[in-house]
Amino acid sequence: MTPNGSFRTKSDTWERAMNLAELNKVAEAMTAPGKGILAADESTGTIKKRFDAISVECTEDNRRDYREMMFRAAEGMKHISGVILYDETIWQKAKDGTPLVDIIKKAGSIPGIKVDEGTKPLPECPGELITVGLDKLADRLTKYYDQSARFAKWRAVIDIGGGIPTATAIHTNTHALARYAALCQAAQIVPIVEPEVLMDGDHDIDRCFEVTTAVLKAQFEELYRQRVALEGIVLKPNMAISGKKNGKRAGVEEVAEKTVRMLKNCVPGAVPGIAFLSGGQSDEEATAHLDTMNKIGNLPWNLTFSYGRALQHAPQKAWSGKSENVAAAQRVFAHRARMNGLAALGQWKQDLEKKAA
Ligand code: 13P
Repeated sequence: MTPNGSFRTKSDTWERAMNLAELNKVAEAMTAPGKGILAADESTGTIKKRFDAISVECTEDNRRDYREMMFRAAEGMKHISGVILYDETIWQKAKDGTPLVDIIKKAGSIPGIKVDEGTKPLPECPGELITVGLDKLADRLTKYYDQSARFAKWRAVIDIGGGIPTATAIHTNTHALARYAALCQAAQIVPIVEPEVLMDGDHDIDRCFEVTTAVLKAQFEELYRQRVALEGIVLKPNMAISGKKNGKRAGVEEVAEKTVRMLKNCVPGAVPGIAFLSGGQSDEEATAHLDTMNKIGNLPWNLTFSYGRALQHAPQKAWSGKSENVAAAQRVFAHRARMNGLAALGQWKQDLEKKAA
């Protein structure tokens, strides 16, 4: 109900201060058939860990060169509808002085921005976290819009373990995500709503299914309470999947079937698109899961990828910080982007991986 006690009608939703039709257009473009999102928004701390693994020093120039390499990979960017950037990157210029956001736009892709400010321990909930960054978010969003961002990302993390997640962690995190989403829409920016249930533990797929269902149910309740228009969001969930330390991990068919069932039970058809995180799955696993879900078909939303590690792991290795490796790394990136683009259509085949190897 609205504050004066009346129910809002469907048509009211399209007559808000923000332009919902435009938000919807962006959300549709972000999840357009055969395309997906490149999550290149690692914080400086996280990209340092990735660079350490390939023995590259984590300097501002190296971070720029690495990301410029991907954004200029024309063949790869054909399959990339949008790029999530970290604050540093959205203001950066390429080596030749071109703003990186202009390179992304020229490649036909939409610039986006990670706006959460990481996690802090959740009081009285040992082992659980709350994502922070709501203070001054409205002002930051205006600046990011002026710098070409048309969508944003906020990630909440929910861990599975003995006695967790608590109802407190689910409530506070989904509440914060909904507050962020409402602020984004008011700033004419499409919010990627990412309540990530981690796959770090030894739990089985059914426990993941149960926890993710609870999180998504709470999430859509919060979005409704905070008047977020579902036509103008993109959901970025985890799949229903076994924990990495589980000895008997569920296979591709089971992951696909259970994830589709879970999402159909939780995500209204008004949501234009769902773009999965990869969350620590292997590159090929992440592709195979998405492909199998799209092969099941008959889905009310576009179903695609918003992968970080599963898109970047291979090109990062191929690049290894050397300018003479840029062309080879771009080819590797293009391959993974194409494989995931095919998976977004349900047209991927495993032998396409072998042929490229
Ligand atoms: P991963 O695909 O590596 O999980 O990263 C996606 C992301 O944006 C996490 O917030």
